[in-house]
Amino acid sequence: MLLDKTNVVLGVTGSISAYKAAYLTRQLQKKGAQVQVVMTAAATEFITPLTFNTLSNRNVYTGMFEGDNAGTRHIDLGKWADVILVAPATANIIAKVARGIADDLLSAILLAFAERKIMFAPAMNVNMYNNPVTRENIEYLKGIGYYFVEPDSGELACGDEGAGRLPEISTITEHLHRYLHSGKLLNGKRVVITAGPTREFLDQVRYISNRSSGKMGYALANEAAKEGASVTLISGPTTLKPPSGVETINVESAQEMQQELRQHANKIDYLFMAAAVEDIAPAQQDSKKLKKEFINDNLSIKVNPDIVQDFRDKDQEVCIIGFSLEMEKGLKRSKEKMRQKGLDYIVWNDPEQEGAGFEVDTNEVVLIAKNEETYKFQKAPKRKIAEQIINRVVMHNE
Ligand code: C5P
Repeated sequence: MLLDKTNVVLGVTGSISAYKAAYLTRQLQKKGAQVQVVMTAAATEFITPLTFNTLSNRNVYTGMFEGDNAGTRHIDLGKWADVILVAPATANIIAKVARGIADDLLSAILLAFAERKIMFAPAMNVNMYNNPVTRENIEYLKGIGYYFVEPDSGELACGDEGAGRLPEISTITEHLHRYLHSGKLLNGKRVVITAGPTREFLDQVRYISNRSSGKMGYALANEAAKEGASVTLISGPTTLKPPSGVETINVESAQEMQQELRQHANKIDYLFMAAAVEDIAPAQQDSKKLKKEFINDNLSIKVNPDIVQDFRDKDQEVCIIGFSLEMEKGLKRSKEKMRQKGLDYIVWNDPEQEGAGFEVDTNEVVLIAKNEETYKFQKAPKRKIAEQIINRVVMHNE
């Protein structure tokens, strides 16, 4: 499991979202982590230590001086931890850390271990979050290396709207995972990525193709290599620079792509099928340029084989991530496609969203897993989207 042998000190502070830390405890444990909960006095007003004690199978610490070994507990717990995660983190704990105040157990641990292994997931009222003092504290801490998970925006418990909601538990665990394993998420894994359009030739010069730029696939290849995978990129024609540290194989037609891909059956761990494989091809191909007078109004067309479905038939083990570009009923259609093609995940793009789809540098996607869990990634550069897709898939899959 991904968080095997990982010791997490989970600091819970006094926010209305403190109850969500109970789910977080469960999730961290499910991934193999040992979780030691430390609560502030205010947190115990929102949720009881007994809840965390039961979930974590460990004594929950709420005070500086209770029980044995209290004198050095703040140091001992910090040394034991691979990461100290404060979720939810109130404006108060952030302010204390920024100013070096250590007047309870959690703030003392945080003072003793500085930025080395501390992550904050802030949650508070929008005005408290936007207060210039809080902003300054957060910016200061970020500047000296503390890691922050941005809060979500939306309706807050007090009825106000804005930034300040505790992010989804899956988002927090994803950040934790990246924080701990960044640069080695795919160590030892073999990954194939297809990218770009295919060209289906009618003759020597004419072809049917589509507007895919290949940017998403190339971003995935870069990211997978950065995360330690051995990456093969099978690319249709693009104007992009081959990513460094990646074996890039250039192909043109769907048939060539299929042949290259087949070489990897039963040899790889992940296949990211980001190519916009052309669905149709001229029924006949001429090796020379056809004379105009030989081309009539009824050009005959054939449907190309489904490459990814063919690959699944040959390799039942590989984890396959497909991509779908759909507008109307996109979510439903993407799920159907995932089932039909035997995919483990599908990334749904809605090209009608501004800044999503073909040719642009940004994307906004929904990642859907076979068990129908869905994750929406907000509009961001394709590099960032690639990072999120890889992180979430690895986290979900292993
Ligand atoms: O059916 P649709 O083209 O929307 O499916 C998209 C997914 O299927 C992509 O991952 C694409 O690479 C793959 N595909 C394929 N062979 C085709 C058409 C699409 O592998 N002929």
